[in-house]
Amino acid sequence: MSSGAGKVDVLISQTDLQARVAALGAEITRDHAGRSLVVVGVLKGSFIFLADLVRAIDLPISIDFIGISSYQGTRSTGVVQITSDLTRPIEGKDVLLVEDIVDTGLSMRYLLDNLATRKPASVQVCALLEKPSRAVVKVPIQYRGFEIGDEFVVGYGLDWDGKMRNLPFVGVPRV
Ligand code: IMP
Repeated sequence: MSSGAGKVDVLISQTDLQARVAALGAEITRDHAGRSLVVVGVLKGSFIFLADLVRAIDLPISIDFIGISSYQGTRSTGVVQITSDLTRPIEGKDVLLVEDIVDTGLSMRYLLDNLATRKPASVQVCALLEKPSRAVVKVPIQYRGFEIGDEFVVGYGLDWDGKMRNLPFVGVPRV
C-alpha cells in the first residue's frame, strides 16, 4: 500500500487487528463487570486503537488523553515529557491506560509513576503491541494485543516522524 512515504510490508493485517481488538474489549468488559472505567489514551499513537477498543468495551466509561513525547525519528530519547495533560482528576478511579506500543518501557514506567501520584484506585495497562526484546525496564501489561520482534513498525496510529499513522494495518517500512 502507498503510505505517502514509500512502501510498507504488512505485519498485522486489518482483519487480525479487528479480531484482536474485539477480543481485548470483551476481556476488559468481563474483568470489570459492574464497574466503571476511565480510559486514558496515550497520544498520539493510541488514538486509532483506542477508538476501536472503546467501541468493543460494554461498560460505563469516560475517556481522557495524555500526551507524551519520547521519540525522535525511530529512536527513543529516554527523556519523557508530558505535552498535554489529563483534563480531569483520576483520584479514586479505576484507570485503563491505552498505549500503542511498549518498546523500551521507559515511557510507560514514567506514566505509571506519574499517574500513581494522582491517587487513582487502580491503573491497568492495555498495549496493542509489545517488543519484549527491547525492554529496558519491565512494566506490567494486563492486556496485550500482539508481541512483535525488534522492528520499527508504522500504521494503525503508529508513526514514522509524524507520518503513516493512517495506514489501516501495522506494517514495516521498506528502507
Ligand atoms: P518506549 O518508551 O521505548 O517504550 O516507547 C514508547 C513509545 O515510542 C510508543 O508510545 C511509540 O510512540 C514509540 N515507538 C516505539 N516503538 C515504535 C515503533 O516501532 N514504531 C513507532 N513508534 C514506536
